[in-house]
Amino acid sequence: MSSLSDTRLDGRQIAGRRILLGISAGIAAYKSAQLARLLTQAGAEVRVVMTEGAQAFIAPLTLQALTGEAVRTSLLDPEAEAGMGHIELARWADTILIAPATADLMARLAMGLADDLLTTLCLASDADKVMAPAMNQAMWRHPATRRNAAQLADDGWRLLGPASGDQACGDVGPGRMLEPEAILEALLAPAPGVAIPPTDGDGDGDGDAAGLHLVITAGPTREPLDPVRYLSNHSSGKMGYALAAAAAALGARVTLISGPVALATPEGVERLDVETASEMHAAAQRLASECDLFIGCAAVADYRAESPADHKIKKREGEESLTLRLVKNPDIIAEVAARADRPFVVGFAAETRDLEAYARDKLARKGLDMIVANDVSQAGLGFGADDNAALLLWRDGEGESGEALPPQPKAALARAVIERALERRRAAATD
Ligand code: PMT
Repeated sequence: MSSLSDTRLDGRQIAGRRILLGISAGIAAYKSAQLARLLTQAGAEVRVVMTEGAQAFIAPLTLQALTGEAVRTSLLDPEAEAGMGHIELARWADTILIAPATADLMARLAMGLADDLLTTLCLASDADKVMAPAMNQAMWRHPATRRNAAQLADDGWRLLGPASGDQACGDVGPGRMLEPEAILEALLAPAPGVAIPPTDGDGDGDGDAAGLHLVITAGPTREPLDPVRYLSNHSSGKMGYALAAAAAALGARVTLISGPVALATPEGVERLDVETASEMHAAAQRLASECDLFIGCAAVADYRAESPADHKIKKREGEESLTLRLVKNPDIIAEVAARADRPFVVGFAAETRDLEAYARDKLARKGLDMIVANDVSQAGLGFGADDNAALLLWRDGEGESGEALPPQPKAALARAVIERALERRRAAATD
């Protein structure tokens, strides 16, 4: 993790950036004052736009005092339009940061509405767009908000958080706005698509993976014990499928090797269904030499039954225990990485403690180029959840702190992971 006094990371910095801070109507708006202060202290030029509802939570005057700039609240304000008009303001910003972003604002932005100053600016601006959602946990979990979050991620918004925990309304769960310090930290990280030279030459992020073949493993494996029972785990496939969708959206040819999951195949993705680790291993080895990038997101069973029973194992009278003999499965990703004709290899590490240390060990031991470490002990993240957070680490990065991607919908995280992997692959190819 970087320190907040370090305002320059990965070639990006806060000083000199023109940040339009949008504030919508959530109780977390009181933290926006601290955020504005941190941004100005870090040397950014900050202009604030508030929705009408936001003014019920925090006074424009507070933000004006902290930024030294008049706060804009209305689209139809002749005085303000006579100065820096809304289109000029949209062009002025290099980053639009909305914190907090309510469910209502997310819905309006996802639909492309321009019914107040803030939504109009978002529609009229080419700036990097980042938002920190904040709302009641049930609103965040609602399918409509999930759809809107995925749409916004698809439209290029970077969603930071929300975090999980106690909420102002008394509920507990995901929906808390990230702390201002965490938002600043995330802003310092390279924005997806910004630092990456596009391969299709138009700079819009679409087609950045054109001409590349990605193979992605996803979901759990099932190791049979007998014809009706198996060993498995809680992987839903959501993270791997989100990666496949993100890669396809960037123009890659994508082959998804999928364990048994209840998900639809993302558009434009070729899917190979497998059941066991051995089947996944065979499919991965077959495709390893013809792909450019291999991502192991599947939760592969480390062991399988040595001899699955041909018939249903019966309970035996008088026997209170049953011993199963398990044997090790092949390490699929380590074998891909050990090939002479290896692609760029990205693994995942699912950990419940000592995230960074265990992930660094897997990165080295399995010979990976990059690893996406996720803490699967956190409620609302990881296995089965719609959201995830990750620490990205890469080969030869021992002295570096890695890059923390805060909690966000898996669709948004997947996009960031794919873009970082493409960037690292390109850098490795030119070394
Ligand atoms: O599917 P979801 O519900 O969306 O959940 C997502 C996830 C938590 C499963 C995903 O984000 C994740 O962490 N996937 C990797 C899970 C895992 O098995 O991690 P691991 O630390 O045990 O394995 C490390 C790496 O080795 C992984 O890339 C894994 O795919 C690979 N591996 C492991 C064992 C094995 N025999 N062969 C492998 O290739």
